[in-house]
Amino acid sequence: MRLKSVRQIRGLRGKRVLLRVDFNVPIGSGGTIDAEGDERISRALPTIQYLQKNRAVVVLATHLGRPDGKAVAAYRLQPVANYLAKLLGGPVTQLGTVREKKTAAAIGCAKPGAVLMLENLRFDPGEEENDLTLAKALAGTADYYVDDAFGNAHRVHASMVGVTKYCKSYAGLLMSEEVRVLSELLQRPRRPYSAIIGGVKLSTKLAVIETFLHRADHLLLGGNLANTVLKAQGVAVGRSPVEKTILPKLRKLKSTSVKLHLPVDVVTAISKNPGAAATTKAVAGVTSNEFILDIGPDTLRLFDSIMREAKTIVWNGPMGMFEQPAYAAGTVGIIHALAHTSARVIVGGGETVTALRQYLPKPVSEYPHLYLSTGGGAMLQFLEKGTLPALEPLRVR
Ligand code: 3PG
Repeated sequence: MRLKSVRQIRGLRGKRVLLRVDFNVPIGSGGTIDAEGDERISRALPTIQYLQKNRAVVVLATHLGRPDGKAVAAYRLQPVANYLAKLLGGPVTQLGTVREKKTAAAIGCAKPGAVLMLENLRFDPGEEENDLTLAKALAGTADYYVDDAFGNAHRVHASMVGVTKYCKSYAGLLMSEEVRVLSELLQRPRRPYSAIIGGVKLSTKLAVIETFLHRADHLLLGGNLANTVLKAQGVAVGRSPVEKTILPKLRKLKSTSVKLHLPVDVVTAISKNPGAAATTKAVAGVTSNEFILDIGPDTLRLFDSIMREAKTIVWNGPMGMFEQPAYAAGTVGIIHALAHTSARVIVGGGETVTALRQYLPKPVSEYPHLYLSTGGGAMLQFLEKGTLPALEPLRVR
């Protein structure tokens, strides 16, 4: 898939550009931004700096959290604007929402090269409803619309889809890079091709899991979502949460396929609290009072042997509750295997990318075979469907 690029816009000087970014980042107490937030914000810098260098007025737009169409103090963007200002080494002016009169006035008198940020788009109920009056209001702030919010490109929202009806629209540098890398993966993956999927909710990843069962050579499942598949296969998973409603569907899934690899051993405890005694055991030995909290060493060896053969690897979702050291070994083991493989590796999902950065032996820039996608749900949906709603208006036809 090829997208119209921001680089194609001629004569940016003094033009107002509405730049949609995905700064949906966790905000800590006192407005702190953690490593996961830094990753998302930093990845938008090349487009912002490109526009500044070309003397455009940059009007940033993003959502933050799920405030449900109302202004919620905890989801105000000022901490994000402050953080971005530090990264850019220059001011970022926090605006009100797009429908406020003073917002248009502030944009109107901004100087070329200025960076301004609209208030959280989801404070307006029209954003998630893809309301066309909101889309028009957003388009009215700008001469051009540039979309760099790959992480949100699976959402049919006013600032992602509706706005493109009213404004000349282009992809930002990050958006183009994400789509180029993932399109290559879809079209010509080098084989053997392995997908490792973990995390919590199986229902949100079921469609892509089915896709991988067709397209990949190996599908490795870990994390909490593997428990639902184990349960569907008649394995007792103790007190581990299971999504009961999808069990019938899973039983129909070709889960006996030779491509599908499930944990053969696990790390368990009778409580998720830090300090609870952890036990490693064969998956068949999980008792009714236990939670499964990580994959075990035999599973890691099995997964490692598959990864060693692979020429392409996709990874999304941790293998266990890695925030607690007692249950981090599975996720850390996968990261070390990925660091040393000669395969092309694509990693997606905020938590997964953060874990990778945290546990890689060296800085990520020392591993050119690793590509870190800013999309979690968006990356998986792209790999499943080959497109996303927000990409369609940006396509070169
Ligand atoms: C994300 O973080 O995955 C995107 O920003 C989308 O956010 P949402 O899941 O709240 O729609």
